[in-house]
Amino acid sequence: MKLCMIGSGYVGLVSGVCFSDLGNDVICVDKDINKISLLKKGKIPIYEPGLSELVIKNFKNKRLKFSNDLKKSIQESDIIFICVGTPTKKGSSSADLSQVYNAAKEIGRSINKFKIIITKSTVPVTTGDEIEKILLKKNNKNKFSVVSNPEFLREGEAIRDFTYPDRIIIGSNDIKSNRTLKNLYSPLISKGASYIHTSRRSAELIKYASNSFLATKITFINEMANLCEKIGVDVEDISIGMGLDKRIGSRFLRAGPSYGGSCFPKDTKAIISTADKYKTNLSVIKSVIKSNKNRSNLLLNKIYKILDNKIRKKKITFLGVTFKANTDDMRDSSCLKMIPALSKKGAIINYYDPTGHKKELDKFKNVKFIDSIKKSIENTDLVIIHTEWNDFKSINFKNFIKSKGKRFSIYDMRNIYSKTKIKNQGFKYFSIGK
Ligand SMILES: NC(=O)c1ccc[n+]([C@@H]2O[C@H](COP(=O)([O-])OP(=O)(O)OC[C@H]3O[C@@H](n4cnc5c(N)ncnc54)[C@H](O)[C@@H]3O)[C@@H](O)[C@H]2O)c1
Repeated sequence: MKLCMIGSGYVGLVSGVCFSDLGNDVICVDKDINKISLLKKGKIPIYEPGLSELVIKNFKNKRLKFSNDLKKSIQESDIIFICVGTPTKKGSSSADLSQVYNAAKEIGRSINKFKIIITKSTVPVTTGDEIEKILLKKNNKNKFSVVSNPEFLREGEAIRDFTYPDRIIIGSNDIKSNRTLKNLYSPLISKGASYIHTSRRSAELIKYASNSFLATKITFINEMANLCEKIGVDVEDISIGMGLDKRIGSRFLRAGPSYGGSCFPKDTKAIISTADKYKTNLSVIKSVIKSNKNRSNLLLNKIYKILDNKIRKKKITFLGVTFKANTDDMRDSSCLKMIPALSKKGAIINYYDPTGHKKELDKFKNVKFIDSIKKSIENTDLVIIHTEWNDFKSINFKNFIKSKGKRFSIYDMRNIYSKTKIKNQGFKYFSIGK
């Protein structure tokens, strides 16, 4: 089948490459000229394990193409996936759908034969209806079918998640496009993925409900961690004890910093906005958003306490600044709350991240990227382990003891290290929920 991915970011690029690897002809389009020119040279604009090899393989065998020419790419394809961003609208909590609607307008102007148009972007319920209206404005009656096929991949595990999904959700109101898509996904269905056909509106809502539920799970265990700290109980015991119950499950039940990334913060806000429109109170999700917002302040207060409230001129090292390990994505990372607050109080901050320097941190005073773990820790007062990259899991902190033998403190926000082991080495060790 001939596919066109509109938007070649985390979702469009990964799913486009994986579809081409399954034997389809795929054109990944982006309006970002720089991004497409990098991709044509075999350079990957994002960090995603395994992606580079798959791009190069499928680009070489000519099943995968890259283009800035949206009209031509649409006309050459049978199935169009909309994979553009749906961030939070400025000054509101609803989703900004301008990128989706602009893509729909371009499709409307370019349709030359029957197309299946699919939203893979996360879009509020009824967006498919709006896309249909936009397409009809250009006299395209009977020339398209609009389908919702939400994407559930996780950054850092994206290729595996795409190739072995738990489920494929197809929300379409017509049988023919459902049949075509079942055929497109048949290699994944034969590997065990469940294929669920729903109404378009149900598919749109399934995505928001799923992300909100996962955000709730994280927030729940983060609050349990707060209680554990007060009563001297280990939150990891709680996670294991709860997670073994099959009704609960162990994933997304590890305490840590506030949830961030490109999806949970914006999607929890957007579903509240949808519920408001339909005069429904999603009070649980509202509490989750509030609790998550407070979490960075709570962790900041703990940092102040560790440093005896003397922050000025204190050297703090952040290991990992993205919202989680195995991605370069800084969107809504809790670091973007903690680092500015510490910088404002006069701290001197070094950070190391396996995916390199982050422009998002450039504007803050005394915040510097250091290109090795070792150098970033030298002469520090406090090491904060902010993400759980493998690179941070077996650091021999004894090798970095400050001059005159003074030991720094360690705040392990991912509970990577054994409290007893680190304390026996003479460091002050702090973790989450213990
Ligand atoms: N990132 C994730 O882990 C993830 C997972 C599941 C679902 N989603 C959803 O998928 C959607 C895309 O997310 P993302 O993280 O891939 O976003 P992204 O910002 O990484 O990529 C979006 C791309 O679309 C391009 N674009 C925008 N308008 C365009 C147009 N008219 N023509 C061509 N290109 C255009 C942008 O230049 C950008 O490269 C969002 O709705 C998101 O919520 C994301």
